[in-house]
Amino acid sequence: MAREEELALSTLPGSYRAQLSDAEFAKLSAFIYNVSGIKMPPAKRIMLQSRLQKRLRELSMDSFKEYTEYVLSERGKQEELIHMLDVVSTNKTDFFREPIHFDFLRETVLPLHVQETPSAPIKIWSAACSSGEEPYTISMVVSEFMRNGGALRDYSILGTDLSTKVLKMAENAVYKMERVEGIPLDILHRYFLRSKDRENPTVRIIPDLRKHVKLQRMNFMDDSYPINETFDVIFCRNVLIYFDRQTQEQVIGKLCTKLKKGGFFFLGHSESIMNMDLPLHSVKPTIFRKI
Ligand SMILES: C[S@@+](CC[C@H](N)C(=O)[O-])C[C@H]1O[C@@H](n2cnc3c(N)ncnc32)[C@H](O)[C@@H]1O
Repeated sequence: MAREEELALSTLPGSYRAQLSDAEFAKLSAFIYNVSGIKMPPAKRIMLQSRLQKRLRELSMDSFKEYTEYVLSERGKQEELIHMLDVVSTNKTDFFREPIHFDFLRETVLPLHVQETPSAPIKIWSAACSSGEEPYTISMVVSEFMRNGGALRDYSILGTDLSTKVLKMAENAVYKMERVEGIPLDILHRYFLRSKDRENPTVRIIPDLRKHVKLQRMNFMDDSYPINETFDVIFCRNVLIYFDRQTQEQVIGKLCTKLKKGGFFFLGHSESIMNMDLPLHSVKPTIFRKI
């Protein structure tokens, strides 16, 4: 390290400089994998270090040794685990992400549901919903379908995620203006309210869409999922990539126990179930139906 860099660093509080040693990384990555299924190969050490440095600062801790001992202790598991998982999970999402799925929902799934079970509301699960963009997009698509004459009685959407931080954002349903830039204007006007704050312009999902979306914390690693209903559609997109193959198969298998026979299952575009033993058959790339 250059002398100037060393001098600059020495003026910072300990938590800014704290380095995650190989030994502590090994302990933390094994722990993260066990509780969340998220893989942390050695290439992610620097990323984990920088994401956790903020937690060290918030806890006024100077070293990762202290932090690791704390988070692995019984008290740490009660108090810190949730915060650590908030920091390590990757929550990237968007409104209308992977639009082919929403076209398929509008053009195939919803009409089929109306045709086969005309009096039943449709139940949809957005598993790993992050900050809400996915369940609210689904809500907009279903609402538009009904507005355009689709004879659907009603609908409900469950959004679940591991991270309490993103679930709070989903609950608030407030988004920065730039997050909704690509949304067609008529949809934007119908389903979003604009803040009056010109300095920090935001939008909020209207109550009529929010009332169809229920949010709940749920960890895919749980032995059985604490959800007492079955669904017509499950979206589980862009989360399995963080798990190893065996965990992916177990998670999809457990999700399938909550999917009705004939129900639809959506995966992210870079995810696959090839060679997995699951009760799903492929309808289109990344879209499946329960056998
Ligand atoms: C990249 S986001 C995907 C959001 C959305 N499905 C989409 O495709 O835009 C992945 C989400 O999976 C959640 N996640 C990670 N591990 C999880 C687990 N073990 N159980 C439940 N959710 C998890 C993260 O908190 C994060 O919000």
